[in-house]
Amino acid sequence: MQTGIAGRYALVCGASKGLGFACAQALAAEGVNVALIARGEQALEQAAATLRADYQVEVKALAVDITTDAGISAALQLWPQVDILVTNAGGPPPGNFRDWDKSTWHSALEANMLTPIELIKGVIDGMIERRFGRIINITSGAVKAPIAVLGLSNGARSGLTGFVAGLAREVVKHNVTVNNLLPGPFETDRLGQVFAGEAKRQQISVEEARTKRLAAHPAGRFGQPAEFGAACAFLCSAQAGYITGQNLLLDGGAYPGTF
Ligand SMILES: NC(=O)c1ccc[n+]([C@@H]2O[C@H](COP(=O)([O-])OP(=O)(O)OC[C@H]3O[C@@H](n4cnc5c(N)ncnc54)[C@H](OP(=O)(O)O)[C@@H]3O)[C@@H](O)[C@H]2O)c1
Repeated sequence: MQTGIAGRYALVCGASKGLGFACAQALAAEGVNVALIARGEQALEQAAATLRADYQVEVKALAVDITTDAGISAALQLWPQVDILVTNAGGPPPGNFRDWDKSTWHSALEANMLTPIELIKGVIDGMIERRFGRIINITSGAVKAPIAVLGLSNGARSGLTGFVAGLAREVVKHNVTVNNLLPGPFETDRLGQVFAGEAKRQQISVEEARTKRLAAHPAGRFGQPAEFGAACAFLCSAQAGYITGQNLLLDGGAYPGTF
């Protein structure tokens, strides 16, 4: 399938590894010029070098904390126009809500709700003017099926989901779509951290925590980042202009509901 987005310009956040990198890679494979954002310079430069070597597209890399005002503003200046925006940052830590104060909540809201909204605000009017825009927010399966220890993620990401549900209906007539991708367990560094936390809580080894989770998963495996990237590239395609305001769960069947 020809996705019709070659030559477009994408800003991909949280993109030096994991799901963000997979999205950038899938977009670059479709001929999209990509700007990658992450804090750690070394992994970021390596990610950019990989894409430059593999694809004939322009690749930019900027090492900033995307949850800061300075980071958002610098990221928005990387391209003269942004046709595709992928919002993403690290997930908040697990814990017990009795231990969290307002500042803990503010950090989660900054990273997983307010930063995506600021980024969207920075690009959406240009998209409307040019009559093309694709916005993808990487959220979490926890938005659909909350995970008790990830209360910060459940709360902050649901706030973003509610906001974009309204926005999506407002801008689709301009061929600007806004969708959320909800990962279940994918083989990334983040998943490793989740198992490390589980192991500590249950006083078992990290390998045991991983095996237990795998045994309970209907697919018998965790997702591969490339599978996630492919879904992102499709939602950013020219053909996906009639898909908006959706929350696409990519979890290998882990969510047990009919709908
Ligand atoms: N993998 C899963 O199974 C899973 C499941 C549910 C939800 N999620 C969510 O999906 C998102 C992506 O997860 P992942 O598994 O791809 O994580 P990952 O492998 O840890 O990668 C996260 C990426 O985001 C960057 N990043 C983190 N905080 C940032 C910040 N403040 N500013 C700029 N870049 C930042 C990281 O680079 P630096 O650290 O160098 O900045 C890295 O490139 C997270 O929000 C995660 O909670 C993941």
